[in-house]
Amino acid sequence: MTAPNSSTAPVDPTTTDAWSALEAHHLEQSTSLREWFAADPQRAERFSHRAADLHVDLSKNLVTAETMELLQQLAREVGVLERRDAMLAGAHINTTEDRAVLHTALRRPAGASPALEVDGQQIDADVQETLRRVYAFADQVRSGQWTGMTGRRIETVVNIGIGGSDLGPVMVYEALKPWAQDGLSARFVSNIDPTDAYESTKDLDPETTLVIVASKTFTTLETLTNARLVREWLLQGLRENAALTPEQEKEAIAKHFVAVSTALDKVADFGIDPDNAFGFWDWVGGRYSVDSAIGTVLATVLGPDAFEELLAGFHGMDEHFATAPAEQNVPLLMGLLNVWNVNFLEAETHAVLPYSQYLHRFPAYLQQLTMESNGKSVRWDGTLATTETGEVFWGEPGTNGQHAFYQLIHQGTRIIPADFIAFATPNHALADGEQDVHELFLANFFAQTKALAFGKTAEEVRAEGTEGALVAAREFSGDRPTTSIMAPKLTPSVLGQLIALYEHITFVQGVVWGINSFDQWGVELGKQLAKDLAGAVAGDESAIAGEDASTAALIRYYRENRKR
Ligand code: F6P
Repeated sequence: MTAPNSSTAPVDPTTTDAWSALEAHHLEQSTSLREWFAADPQRAERFSHRAADLHVDLSKNLVTAETMELLQQLAREVGVLERRDAMLAGAHINTTEDRAVLHTALRRPAGASPALEVDGQQIDADVQETLRRVYAFADQVRSGQWTGMTGRRIETVVNIGIGGSDLGPVMVYEALKPWAQDGLSARFVSNIDPTDAYESTKDLDPETTLVIVASKTFTTLETLTNARLVREWLLQGLRENAALTPEQEKEAIAKHFVAVSTALDKVADFGIDPDNAFGFWDWVGGRYSVDSAIGTVLATVLGPDAFEELLAGFHGMDEHFATAPAEQNVPLLMGLLNVWNVNFLEAETHAVLPYSQYLHRFPAYLQQLTMESNGKSVRWDGTLATTETGEVFWGEPGTNGQHAFYQLIHQGTRIIPADFIAFATPNHALADGEQDVHELFLANFFAQTKALAFGKTAEEVRAEGTEGALVAAREFSGDRPTTSIMAPKLTPSVLGQLIALYEHITFVQGVVWGINSFDQWGVELGKQLAKDLAGAVAGDESAIAGEDASTAALIRYYRENRKR
């Protein structure tokens, strides 16, 4: 199959009939979740949907059936579903890099039919072959067949990567810790602050440590620097027991270092045996790569079965996105709701609040997914965006956030749409005496969205005995939009579904705004300047003098205060 052309100019959403109608609708509509729920006993049911195993309740958002119909019309007018189909078929919708966008192909089940061939590549066959190699490697480590240089079993896998080569793996590892094999754990080194490599390795035994250098490009300064630091730490540690000949050093690297990259030539240049390298392809964006060989650390520590289950979960959500009717298509609906919140209700941020301690890195993961994807002011044809784009995503697990920033969500002057995520069955059912603690936890989850939606009126505050100026302070306006996402239990499959859900939500928003969600040119300038500044930072006076006054003064401060 030849991939369809993707160069169609984006439709300016603000010129559509739906946009004008949404503007008018926004002005006319008087919002009251209290009234809407009272008037329509079916509202919760009407606005709740099933996507794979996820139950998604959109009813506490500031929308009516008419709002949703107009948003669907907007999606039709800008061609969201056509672009979805183009993406799934392998069109080069990453226009600035002239690449297909095929992360969904990473989780197609073995034997999926018809086979996907794009740009002359047999995609399914290549994906399955890489998975086979990753799983074979993982099995060797897990069974103890793969040992360190001194014959000892691997106990710790250190993943060195940054951005998409770190945030996905670390988030999934933290989320699925109960699946980790006994006696095997993972560490993650990402920051070029040498503290990260130091703290992550200081209590490890090099003899039982395996390092995965994960980098799509294998050019990333942080990752290559950390890889060299950890390589030196490892060799140093091994040398403490016995001097190593150059041949033995090579063997040590072969036994303790593997790599994941799309640039296998560069892996070899680094000194890692290409037999110990797992590849992926330029049609997988870094922030969409946790389900590629970038997940090798996960397949190793959590196991191939858990990784397969994770992929199946992703695929379940892909199928939903690809086939569910528009009015029940949850990623489409949630993406459109975000457009409503950003462009009509003027929300600038979006909170994601998982009621699961295991998901404590999920908001950080979503920050790269959403903000590196949609933080753009230029559309895919090079013209300026015509609306606000990319909101700031942020969050923390509940209930911790309740005691920190929820005040602002409840009573601040800004509207902050929030997604609440919870699971019916806990991974650990603990009781405090008679009290099931998970129930206490979930009571908080239910209470927060209820309070945000319905608030507390001045009359209700007074009825509780409060008087005077305190009444206003204790009043809650309500009408603060939330989405509740529930699933039976946090499992690898459900986690895959959640990640894919947010991938597709991000895609939908990008299409409405007309932006290419799959490049990230905005990270380049800082990288370039950091390289250019190396001489000045090292003390080259003429280089310092050539800098702007602020940067020069900061570098001088550094040079005067650095103690060695
Ligand atoms: O600088 C941003 C970025 O390119 C991300 O998009 C990417 O996930 C990260 O750096 C790491 O890149 P790599 O996997 O090539 O080392």
